[in-house]
Amino acid sequence: MKGVILAGGTGSRLRPITHTGPKQLVPIANKPVLEYAIDDLRDAGITDIGIILGNKGRDAIQQYFGDGDDFGVDITYIVQGEPLGLAHAVGCARDFVGDESFVVYLGDDLMREGITELVEDFDADEYAAGIGLQEVDEPSRYGIVDVDENDNVVGLTEKPDDPPTNLALIGIYVFTPDIFPKIESLEPSWRGELEITEAIQALIDDGRRIQSHVVHGWWKDTGKPGDVVHANRLVLDDLQTDIRGTVEDDESITGRVELGEGSIIEEGAVVRGPVSIGEGTRIGSNAYIGPYTSIGDDSEVDNVHVESSVTIGENVITADRTIIDSLIGREASITSSKGRRPAGDRFVVGQNSSLEL
Ligand code: TTP
Repeated sequence: MKGVILAGGTGSRLRPITHTGPKQLVPIANKPVLEYAIDDLRDAGITDIGIILGNKGRDAIQQYFGDGDDFGVDITYIVQGEPLGLAHAVGCARDFVGDESFVVYLGDDLMREGITELVEDFDADEYAAGIGLQEVDEPSRYGIVDVDENDNVVGLTEKPDDPPTNLALIGIYVFTPDIFPKIESLEPSWRGELEITEAIQALIDDGRRIQSHVVHGWWKDTGKPGDVVHANRLVLDDLQTDIRGTVEDDESITGRVELGEGSIIEEGAVVRGPVSIGEGTRIGSNAYIGPYTSIGDDSEVDNVHVESSVTIGENVITADRTIIDSLIGREASITSSKGRRPAGDRFVVGQNSSLEL
């Protein structure tokens, strides 16, 4: 089986972060979202992976993952260009997958328990496709499937007013090549995209069977700033302590902390895990880094209280403030000329921004 990761798209809901880079490279606990998808495919035994690229950040993604060797996989890049929809993106992989079954993984999705079970369960002799699902509390906010008494999928609806089930599509699919003719016969939907749900519905209308697979463990898509912060919290819940940098005073650290090479936590700083700190970063003596925070590489953080936030890297954060639930873009700085300490601020700061508070 092959793997296809969809890493094109517009990323409009993640602006301003996506003004300057693809959302699939946004780090969660100092690792790009897309790398989690590659890890999950590899762990499920799938090493032949096609990555679908849009126009945005195409080079950055190729530069980071190269031919996949460093990640234990073999990567083929396929350019979709304009984001004409998930089905269009899948259709771009036709030559790459040939006549094999393949997994489709949305490049901005995270799944705690990976996809091994879903891949092993799929039976290509019986089913034309398999769909990863999860039970949700508010089904009218999601793409929802209807299932028959054998749990086969018999219908799909986007954000239904009267949901037939609470089983939501989570962006993981297994397809046989039979999906391709269905994609080719699609017309753009009301939002101008070729919809993967319509291609699957066309298989159902042909009498084909579609396997449902309920995925356990959390699942999170990282489409919006709040989702990135939330995904970071979920991933940090499983963080293991790993100190490769310098901790001047062990008393500074409580809980699980990851500290990258060349980073330093100076005496006097307080770091309360779970916290992930990248490489080459200085946590100054007047810094407080609270739980569920990821600080990126090559940054300087001092005189500040940061909690439950993600800073992407090359940041200077010395604002004499409390920063909570925030997402700070690469090379952004937050500094302050006044020595006051208010209750807290919440930010989404794009790349190269500079805030003086
Ligand atoms: P979405 O998050 O649904 O779409 P988007 O990236 O355009 O984001 P927004 O709505 O904020 O503008 O896409 C899910 C995943 O699929 C994501 O990794 C991008 C990818 N994708 C493609 O590769 N090609 C496409 O044509 C589309 C629409 C998405």
